[in-house]
Parts: sequence; C-alpha cells; structure tokens
Amino acid sequence: SASISSDVDGFLSCLSINIPPSLIHTPSSNSYSPLLMSTVQNRRYALPGPTRPLVIVAANETAHVQTTVVCGRRHGVHVRTRSGGHDYEGLSYTSVNHKHFAVLDLAKLRAIHVDATRAEAWVESGATLGELYYAAAAANRTFGFPAGNCPTVGVGGHLSGGGFGALSRKYGLSADNVIDAIVVDAQGRLLNKSTMGKDLFWAIRGGGGESFGVVVSWKVRLVAVPETVTVFGIRRGKNESAVELITKWQAIAPSLPRDLYLRVIVENQQATFISLFLGRCSQLVDTMGAHFPELGMMEQDCQEMSWVKSTVFFFFGTADMPAEALLNRHNEEYYLKVKSDHVEEPMSLDAWESLWSEWLEKPEAAMVMLDPYGGRMASISPSATPFPHRNYMYQLQFYQSWAENGTAAMESRLRWIRGVYEYVEPYVSKNPRSVYVNYRDLDLGTNEVEGNVTSYAKARVWGEKYFKGNFKRLAAVKSKVDPDDFFRNEQSIPPLLPLK
Ligand code: FDA
Repeated sequence: SASISSDVDGFLSCLSINIPPSLIHTPSSNSYSPLLMSTVQNRRYALPGPTRPLVIVAANETAHVQTTVVCGRRHGVHVRTRSGGHDYEGLSYTSVNHKHFAVLDLAKLRAIHVDATRAEAWVESGATLGELYYAAAAANRTFGFPAGNCPTVGVGGHLSGGGFGALSRKYGLSADNVIDAIVVDAQGRLLNKSTMGKDLFWAIRGGGGESFGVVVSWKVRLVAVPETVTVFGIRRGKNESAVELITKWQAIAPSLPRDLYLRVIVENQQATFISLFLGRCSQLVDTMGAHFPELGMMEQDCQEMSWVKSTVFFFFGTADMPAEALLNRHNEEYYLKVKSDHVEEPMSLDAWESLWSEWLEKPEAAMVMLDPYGGRMASISPSATPFPHRNYMYQLQFYQSWAENGTAAMESRLRWIRGVYEYVEPYVSKNPRSVYVNYRDLDLGTNEVEGNVTSYAKARVWGEKYFKGNFKRLAAVKSKVDPDDFFRNEQSIPPLLPLK
C-alpha cells in the first residue's frame, strides 16, 4: 500500500525546493488545523477517526500544483485535491485507508477573468460558485452561469462532477458549458483542451473529482439571462394539500417551459415550491395558471430581481441581502449525510401519503429536495459527458444535516436516512439505482486496492450507479492518463486494465 512505500521526509524536502515554506503546512505548525478546517463542510469528518493529511500545500501558483504531483509520485505520497471542501463524504481532506496523503488546497487559486465580448470566463478551481455568479453579473447583468444553489461550493469539485442548478433545465449542467480547461496530469504536465486529447477532456467534465488529474482552471461559456427574472417561494402544509400538490408537481415540473424551474423542498412537514422564471411576473402567473393552477400562485407571490439576486434568494431564502453575500466563502458547517435517487415515473398519491406519514413526520427527518430535469437536460445524449442521468423526471435528495454533537444524534439521523433510502426503493430508478456523483455516498461502495491499483471489478458496484455505461469509458481513460493510479480515493475511477 501507499503507506509502506511512501517517503515522507523525501516528499517534504522535494516540495521545499519549489514551494515557499509559508505555503507548506505540517501538523506541527500552528496554521495546520485552521487551514485544514477552513473548508470542512461536513463535521462528521472533523471528528477523530478519519486520517488527516501529513501536509497541506496551499498552492498559489500552477507550478506549486505541478511540484506537489511530481514530488508525490517520486516519494509515494498520494495527493488529494481540495477546492471548496464541500464533498459530502469529505474525500478532499480525509481518508479512511491512506495513511500518507497530502492535501493540495486550491483555495488561493481563485482568479476569475470574464471576457464580456465573448461571454466567456476563465475561472480557477478555488473560486466558489458565488464568486463566479458575482463576477459574471458584474461584467454584464444579462450573464449567468448554470451551477448549484449553494454559493460556497467550490468550482473545482462542482464542475468535475457535473453541476446542477436552477438554470439546468434551460442550459444543462455546469460541465455542459465548459469549453476548455487547464489540467496538471499524473506526470505533472500542464495540459489544455488541445493537448489533453478528447477522452481526457470528456472525462473531466462530469467524471467526478480527483481521478484524472488536478484541474487548475476552467474556461466556461456564460449564458444569457434576462435583465429581470422572477422568483417565488410558496409553502403548503399537509392540511393545505401539500401531498396532492407534490404528486401533481411530478407530472408537470419536468415538462414545463425551459424558462421555468420549479423545485420542491420538504422540511418540517411543509412543502415549499420554489421557482426561478427567466421572465416577468405577469407571464409567470399565466404559465403557472396554465400548467399548475392547483398551487394557486398569484401576482403577490412574485419577486422580480436581477438574476444574480435570484441566486441570493435561492440560497438564503430571501433577496433582502446585497449580492455581495455571494462573496462570503464561509458556510456554517454541520454534520451531514446525503442520499439521493432519480425518479422515472411519478409516485402515486398513496405512496407520497405513506412516505410523508411514516418518514417525513419523524423529528429526525431530513430535508427532502425534489429537482426537476427535462428541458435541455433531456436533450443531451447520456454519453455526451460522463453524467448519464439525462432522461429522468427528477432528482430526489435526502439531505440530513444536524448540529447536535454526539453519537446518539448521529445514529438516529443515519438510521433515518438509511431507512428512508430502503423504503423508497420501489419508486426510484432501477438497474442500476442511479445516483449523481456530486451527491457522493460511500454507502454505495468503496474501492479496494489490489496490487497497488484500484480494482475495477470492485469499483463497478458504486461506479455504475454514478455513471452507468460511461463507467467503463472513464476507466479506459484512467488507464491511459494515470495507469499507476496515483490520483485515488475511496471512490476514484480505477484503471480498466491492470498493467502489472
Ligand atoms: P471538494 O473540494 O471537497 O472536492 C470534491 C471532490 O472533487 C473531491 O474528490 C476532490 O478531491 C475533487 N476535486 C476538488 N477540486 C478538484 C480539482 N481542481 N481538480 C480535480 N479534482 C478536484 N451539487 C449540485 O450539483 N448542485 C447543488 O445545488 C449543490 N448544492 C450543494 C450544497 C451544499 C451545502 C453542499 C455541501 C454540496 C452541494 N452540492 C451541489 C454538491 C457539490 O457539487 C459537490 O460536493 C462538489 O464536488 C463540491 O465541490 P468542492 O470543490 O466544494 O468540493
């Protein structure tokens, strides 16, 4: 294993040749813990137990990334890349099976350059989604970017895994809008789209973080949004037909016009219907009246604003905050466990009634998010990028977050989420039961290393859930670009052919 052959002292002195000591943080330095914790989103992985990195390199130049990879290769120290630290299972900064690993922290590599004439931007991986939204809109109020709803998520991990959000029905995933990238490969070389080859360029746009190299920056297409968009949030309890409304929502949300995104969040026994409409209030009222009159949406529910303010509304639940709130890189951390599914056929009213009364009414119930696909999502081929889940109706996400310390709280939360996951099995996608890789879940399976290379046969168990038929192609790309399996974690893509 890596720990047997790794030469830690050799690694550290190799780093110090090209990287200033102020950027190299070992456990003995006072800066180590604050830096390690700075973007730990999931407190479950801040507990004693998981292994901590033997060093954190806070790269602020691309050359530091190359040096870290080259030194890691030479001295047998695996490298985990961290951009925003929002991995649901903490894989960018913890390890359950690698004693000696380094973290390459990209938080300082976060420049964003918008080319307003071409409606494109170069964005470094350490930038957050909030910073990208802010920069795009600052260049032009009619520029947007399709990506997730949480502004503190890192660009590096998010674009690597896909990137779904309020503009995805109109413009697809973040990864669908990547037009070039700068990657440091397993040999420390710097590659761009024209030098990396089309297979690697395919793999990095949705094949999940870590496996193929370190993506230092991304060139993205900015998308057109109107000067004024409209949002609403309408809350309904069970006695206000919440369950009937969700049942109806399933049938209409994926086929609404592409300019209308309508999600549902169920929390504290209330269903909130939240919308982004790329147009004005009066037209939204008409569209809702035509497709979903049961919700009773009215003009008073509308809030008109700029697109960038809508991203504030989507995260904070209010637009009464300046757009600068998007620049706050810190999100309050909590204990977290997420499980998710894709739904192909609407669940019946009876099924929703039972799910609600047997699971959602429990005090330890998770937040449940229903996010519609359809529109542009459904018009992209499942093999165009590694993200294969193009034809489902919607995502179903159980987002269990809690603040109480202690094993009792943790056990009851984990029991609930694992129980509900078993419970909904009859209603969700099958063969495989498919999951979006950015909603990482280690319960699906973890890698096993055989002969110092991750086993392909074992990895298929989780890999085909994330990638279906694309998994094999990802493994083939891996065997070309990183046959020695330097970039690895508990769910990294294995090389297809063991070479030794
Ligand atoms: P982090 O730094 O933890 O990296 C994630 C993975 O990618 C790790 O394996 C890491 O090693 C690797 N990696 C990171 N940077 C890399 C780089 N530059 N090159 C190569 N590999 C790299 N998703 C979504 O689609 N829509 C949404 O609305 C949300 N909302 C959301 C809210 C909250 C609160 C959380 C915690 C998460 C989400 N997500 C999401 C999921 C999110 O997209 C996913 O966790 C991303 O991988 C996070 O990217 P970070 O860079 O922050 O994570």
